[in-house]
Amino acid sequence: MTTVIRGDIVFTQKPGYFTVLEDGCVVVGDDGRVTEVTRSLDDLTLHGHYVLGECIPPAGGWTTPPVPPHWEPGPQVVDRRGCLVIPSFVDLHVHAPQYPMSGLGLDMELLQWLRSTTFPTESRFADDEVAETWYRRFVRRMWRVGTLRFSAFATLHVGATQLLMRLCQEAGLRPVIGKVNMDRNAPEDLRERTSDSLDGTRLIAETSSTETPDVGYIVTPRFVPSTTPKLMEGLGEIVRHFELPVQSHLDENRSEVEWVRRLHPDIPTYAEVYDHFGLMPEGRTIMAHCIWLTDSERELLRERRVWAAHCPQSNLNLTSGLMPVRRNLDAGLKVCIASDVAAGHDPSMPRQIVAAIETSKAKTFEAGHEKDRPLTLSEAFYMATKRPGEFFGAIGRGRVGSFEPGYDFDALVIREEEDNPLDMSVEGRLARFIYDGDDRDILERWVAGRRIPEPFAR
Ligand code: GUN
Ligand code: FE
Repeated sequence: MTTVIRGDIVFTQKPGYFTVLEDGCVVVGDDGRVTEVTRSLDDLTLHGHYVLGECIPPAGGWTTPPVPPHWEPGPQVVDRRGCLVIPSFVDLHVHAPQYPMSGLGLDMELLQWLRSTTFPTESRFADDEVAETWYRRFVRRMWRVGTLRFSAFATLHVGATQLLMRLCQEAGLRPVIGKVNMDRNAPEDLRERTSDSLDGTRLIAETSSTETPDVGYIVTPRFVPSTTPKLMEGLGEIVRHFELPVQSHLDENRSEVEWVRRLHPDIPTYAEVYDHFGLMPEGRTIMAHCIWLTDSERELLRERRVWAAHCPQSNLNLTSGLMPVRRNLDAGLKVCIASDVAAGHDPSMPRQIVAAIETSKAKTFEAGHEKDRPLTLSEAFYMATKRPGEFFGAIGRGRVGSFEPGYDFDALVIREEEDNPLDMSVEGRLARFIYDGDDRDILERWVAGRRIPEPFAR
């Protein structure tokens, strides 16, 4: 049945401005995709042929009663007048097993933090009970904050990775997830034999498409220092053979960049190491951080149409650096905003949007960047919705992140806790939600045209 969602619609078709339809409608077809967005119910070709959906009054009650002009069977109208209706958030870089350690060890920089806090936490996921408890909590939290598609690192454990994929499938979320590959420079219990790492990857890649059809597999070498050339070569073959996407870390911290240079003295740059081993397939690669890129790396990332996941909160927490976001955007990189939980301590994308804007302003105090234009709210919103959503379109998992025709209707209905006695504009209310709102303001979450209830409610 066709569904019409009525409310104050906001989305970003292009970076730089919001499309706003006050008391507008999104029309969603049987297949869960948007067919039409209109200014009012009167504009709808469906006019006069709808039944009323469930009614939840906005804070302060209805201004006009939600009674349709005619009662004839037809499309369902979900009347959310007084609420904001926005695309749900897309986070292209998050570590699910690090959720238990949010906020821990952040007095350290990357390499020390990995050794002291991250690896010991991830090794606990060998235990199925630990994995089940924490992955349920993680999935519920993603639902709660309205991040309904994401690209997650799991751990190297095959069983726990498959469990995370099943939990997401059960919850109605549609992420891509990767078993982490690591066969060097790790404690013994987090170091795989190269052949086991490749076999485990192949196994999940092959079985997940039938077992968890809505959850995709993404090849996930942790980062160059964790993966031997033999492992990277084998993963490159798997990527080619199954036409899989890839995610990893790139140019995050200066000690890490230096370490990669020492490990691979014959390859000029960090990015070229991945490319050399076939781990930067064009149009289906995510690289997190990209702070210390050289000009030639920037050019390579542009050519390979890589999504550069900018993780501003993480970069401050681990004292990694301030991404030159304007320079990267001007160079034609597909920069999106991501949480990097748990180096980023908060899974909420609104918090990451704000951190990205603040970081872009801080960057202008740095010599050589005085003229960099800081990110605007609408640019940053685009970088947390449509830009990362395009990744899912590129790998054949549905276009998301906007309400244009053909996009999956992935949406949040926001009913602000405080009502609006100042008659603020729709855009003003969205700004207020991004800067000062939280998950209590999210009334409903929709994925591909279906409302998703809270998973694993306690
Ligand atoms: N580089 C390699 N592993 C990690 C990780 O888990 N988090 C971050 N932020 N960077 C990494
Ligand atoms: Fe990360």
